[in-house]
Amino acid sequence: MTDTIKELEKLHKNALSCSKCTLCKERTKVVFYDGNCTAPILFIGEAPGKNEDEIGIPFIGRAGQLLRKFLYDIGYTKDDFYIANTVKCRPPKNRKPTLEEKKACRHYLDKQIELVNPKIIVLVGSTALESFINDKKLTITKARGKVFEVDKRKYFPIFHPSYLLRYHSLEPGKPRYLFKEDLIQIKKLAQKY
Ligand code: URA
Ligand code: SF4
Repeated sequence: MTDTIKELEKLHKNALSCSKCTLCKERTKVVFYDGNCTAPILFIGEAPGKNEDEIGIPFIGRAGQLLRKFLYDIGYTKDDFYIANTVKCRPPKNRKPTLEEKKACRHYLDKQIELVNPKIIVLVGSTALESFINDKKLTITKARGKVFEVDKRKYFPIFHPSYLLRYHSLEPGKPRYLFKEDLIQIKKLAQKY
């Protein structure tokens, strides 16, 4: 086992007993990651939902299954990506995590980024976008499909798949079409960088 994987395991183990914010009170499981620890692409979502909280793996509920279906249909394999969230414990009633909760949990995410050291970081939805790109006026609709470089890291925002659950059309210009185009572009960029 490489040192990186050992360090990620240690970090994961620490998170399993974390009580740095009040989300620890109502969680069932800490949701740390899924995927490949040396992947070129790191996806960052918002927070675990009900299914994730029960199983302990990110993006396995309805929205997550939709994201995964897009990825595999395009030709991604499980080796291509690592998935995490801005917070590792489920906010009650699926509310958005607060700034304090995100701050308390940020240490884990920053370490995950440092250790996985991906070529590109995908910001899945507005919560992840706000956490990494400091521009209050920037909406996910404006930001998606573009690369942002901050402190030598490359970030690529995309729609959150839960948004796509309401829009089914695959016609050019529609959310699902743009989502697919973005994922194709991200795969190409990861090969280029
Ligand atoms: N939505 C997210 O943002 N993250 C998950 O893990 C599941 C749903
Ligand atoms: Fe700890 Fe993060 Fe869970 Fe809060 S959300 S208890 S900081 S692991």
